[in-house]
Amino acid sequence: MKKKKKKKKLKRPILHGVGVVKSLKVAKRITAEFHRKSEAALEQAGEGAARAASETERDMYQKASQAALQRTSHVRKFVYSTLTTLNKRPGKGEERKVLNGLEVGAVTTEFCCQSPSWIRFRSIDLNSQHPKIEKRDFFALKVCEDEFDVVLNSMVLNCVAEPEDRGEMLLRMAKMLRKETGVLFITIPRRCVENNPFCSVDIFNECLRACGLSVVLTKFSPKIAFWVCEKKGKNVANAPKLNRREKKTKKTNSYFSVRFHRSERRRIAE
Ligand SMILES: C[S@@+](CC[C@H](N)C(=O)[O-])C[C@H]1O[C@@H](n2cnc3c(N)ncnc32)[C@H](O)[C@@H]1O
Repeated sequence: MKKKKKKKKLKRPILHGVGVVKSLKVAKRITAEFHRKSEAALEQAGEGAARAASETERDMYQKASQAALQRTSHVRKFVYSTLTTLNKRPGKGEERKVLNGLEVGAVTTEFCCQSPSWIRFRSIDLNSQHPKIEKRDFFALKVCEDEFDVVLNSMVLNCVAEPEDRGEMLLRMAKMLRKETGVLFITIPRRCVENNPFCSVDIFNECLRACGLSVVLTKFSPKIAFWVCEKKGKNVANAPKLNRREKKTKKTNSYFSVRFHRSERRRIAE
């Protein structure tokens, strides 16, 4: 008997509606499609187009990120276990000490509401989906030096459209960190620093050092790259080298890269 041929299901565009995203598979499809669309828009028409994603698309993206994160706690585990390994966790006799943390780009409340008693997180996001997450642009935050013991920036740097703004974000986070003891966690997709003519692990390390950060740990999962940095004061040695990647073309727009505003470069190099 002839076997019935299975009809191949056509994949419908998924960034079209609202509702609750329950499946991890659907969540991953939504976030991947959002990034694909943003990258294509960036390639075609420059930075402005990437920001022009519709409200619905942004909403779907946010819900999908929430759904994906609720099922994976790898960042949370990594953050707390690293703080313990680095001896940052207040020890016995320091029961009253509570570390001050900032989470940039929060889609879930796992840091601001479910943190252990020795650390308190202020979580912010441009497009907050929860009353406990402050709806705020990181660039609108007042930069107070040495304010935070821990700053967390997970998969946010790669969502910032302009390379100069990524540089600015790194500089501001470095300033906000408490000197000597502060710890910065950054995660970005591995593809940002692999097979990319404008950014590699070494180049990214160089950018971090230019902001006065020293890399204490890097880790690579199949898709994500993790950095843990401490603030060790100004390190000006490598900053001028960043000039060589300065030329901006349409091609550089479609790749992840970090640059520093001209005035900041001068300041870093001083
Ligand atoms: C890919 S999600 C990352 C969510 C989560 N941190 C994680 O680890 O998956 C990026 C988030 O960063 C937020 N974001 C991007 N630029 C921001 C900015 N300038 N200030 C605050 N949040 C920002 C976006 O709204 C989005 O919710």
